[in-house]
Amino acid sequence: MTRGAPSQRGDHGMKFIPINIPLLGKEEKEAVMAVLDSGLLTNATYEGGRFVKEFEGKLKARVGTRHAIAVNSGTAALHTSLVAYEIGPGDEVIVPAFTFEATANVVLACGAKPVFADIKDDYNIDPEDVRRKVSKKTKAIIPVDVYGYPADLDEIRETADQHSIRVIEDAAESLGAEYRGRPTGKTDHSGCFSLYATKVITSGEGGAITSDDDEFADRVRLVRNHGMQAGYDTRVLGFNYRMPEMAAAVASIQMDRLDGYIEARRRNSRVLTETISPMKGAALRQVSSDRRHVWYLYTVFLAEKRDEVMKRLRARGVGAAVYWETPVNRMPLYKRLGYAEKTLPSAVSAAGHVLSLPVHPGVTEPEIEFVAEEFVKAVKG
Ligand SMILES: Cc1ncc(COP(=O)(O)O)c(C=O)c1O
Repeated sequence: MTRGAPSQRGDHGMKFIPINIPLLGKEEKEAVMAVLDSGLLTNATYEGGRFVKEFEGKLKARVGTRHAIAVNSGTAALHTSLVAYEIGPGDEVIVPAFTFEATANVVLACGAKPVFADIKDDYNIDPEDVRRKVSKKTKAIIPVDVYGYPADLDEIRETADQHSIRVIEDAAESLGAEYRGRPTGKTDHSGCFSLYATKVITSGEGGAITSDDDEFADRVRLVRNHGMQAGYDTRVLGFNYRMPEMAAAVASIQMDRLDGYIEARRRNSRVLTETISPMKGAALRQVSSDRRHVWYLYTVFLAEKRDEVMKRLRARGVGAAVYWETPVNRMPLYKRLGYAEKTLPSAVSAAGHVLSLPVHPGVTEPEIEFVAEEFVKAVKG
């Protein structure tokens, strides 16, 4: 297994442990070469190419849905879902304020209005705030499994069912996680995954939609391919959201590695938790026994001096990082659109206090011990 990123150095010349890296082996290289040799780089059909289908088969078996449809990013997965549900101008979609901006950007891209909800202590969208924010215009809710920890999917779904609206689960960070015994993305609405370079598994850029709904899956396949089903016959609005065969070949091999990667993430997270859970001023907030974290990010809530702690860690070669420093509704674009004034205190608090530590499968046993020790030192100052 080779590291995908060149080795980096911390401020003092020591080895730098990045927050996340792609882990790729010789099988991925061989698969890419085989695609290049075949000359079949993509397949602009409703079904998709050979490796796209192979990857989709593995993903649907893992998630347990009738369908998995590969696309070329997590953003495309979310946008495709909204378009397939015909969400557009005049519609509202409830999204958490504390997320990566793609979750809300796709709503704007449809001409619909994102309605920002606050989060709970575990950084995931607050089902009570969602209930308060449902209106006659609401067409969908997008809960995010933040850092790879499942959102309150049953409560969200209950609200959605009461109002006959859709749940588009943003599972970009949570492939392999479980909620009440079910894999994230196991739904008859929409589950959206990302295979971006640093995600739990990767194809460089990539994404996928999972669902048990045959009709929805059909529309998703159309939307990914310019609405075309049998040649040049655009039936619905669509785009080019197809996953290239080289990416799909890599994704298919990465699927075989998924369980090993998750195990390594869990092992590393246990080492950190042993050290961090007794500490004062550093809280772990994603701990409910009814869900299995996939530890895409291992995140600590620091009562004070978050930025100083991060600086100290980075100077010692530990790639600590903040996801996310600014709630989406306070980003410049959203401020201009008038969303900044919304009071979402928990999202603001999380943005000011969270710090993520490296926990990925490329972090060795001595390295994770080092991360834990350095974290204690950095917090003590
Ligand atoms: C929560 C969340 N949603 C959506 C995305 C978008 O995925 P992508 O970068 O593959 O477009 C990401 C990842 O980047 C993410 O972390």
